[in-house]
Amino acid sequence: MIITIDGPASAGKGTLAANLAKKYKLSHFDTGMVYRAVGLEMFLNGLDVNDEAAAEKIAKSLTFAKMMELSKHPEFRGANGGNYASIVSAHPKVRTALLKMQQDFSKNPTFADGTPANGAVYDGRDTGTVVCPNADYKFFLTASSEIRAKRRYLEFVEKGIDIAYEKVLSDIVERDARDSGRSTAPLKPADDAVIVDTSDMTAEEVFDKACQIIGLK
Ligand code: DC
Repeated sequence: MIITIDGPASAGKGTLAANLAKKYKLSHFDTGMVYRAVGLEMFLNGLDVNDEAAAEKIAKSLTFAKMMELSKHPEFRGANGGNYASIVSAHPKVRTALLKMQQDFSKNPTFADGTPANGAVYDGRDTGTVVCPNADYKFFLTASSEIRAKRRYLEFVEKGIDIAYEKVLSDIVERDARDSGRSTAPLKPADDAVIVDTSDMTAEEVFDKACQIIGLK
């Protein structure tokens, strides 16, 4: 079984993906990680994230192991990590270079310890439209930018990251505009995705709704 969950930052995709992965014994692929890895690797090597050719080179050499190693860096999940990822992800050549790696995962999904899974749950921006257009179930989660900024701000506070709410909100609005406005694989729901506005929902309510939909088919 392949499930895709797309939507803007902090709409609740990661939490839903983790909950579905646990319930249905699926392996979870957070596809934002591939772009975060490229952006961070460029930053660590003093490269300009706006340089498409340099970004493509890094993307072509990215392996799963390298991505996992970079994910331990404190900036990987920080505010800058998200912004670098959004910038490199707008380069069409970077997206092409990273597509196969993401698609191959669905052919033989395994857990981190190598044991086989019942399938995969992807989350990202284009997983239902480009990465897995034939997925069994597709969700598109959204929420108001203020609510998403509040969620992200509280995550940062919990991690001890010092950042103002207004900065988190302006980053989210800027990222939404870049992710939705780019020419290749822009953020948008697949025609056959179920759209869920999570603004006034708890994570449990979102999970219950997704399970009902999966159970119906
Ligand atoms: O989900 P995230 O915040 O980790 O994603 C970081 C950036 O990566 C996001 O702003 C846009 C990009 N991204 C993408 O273009 N396509 C995906 N499938 C996932 C993420």
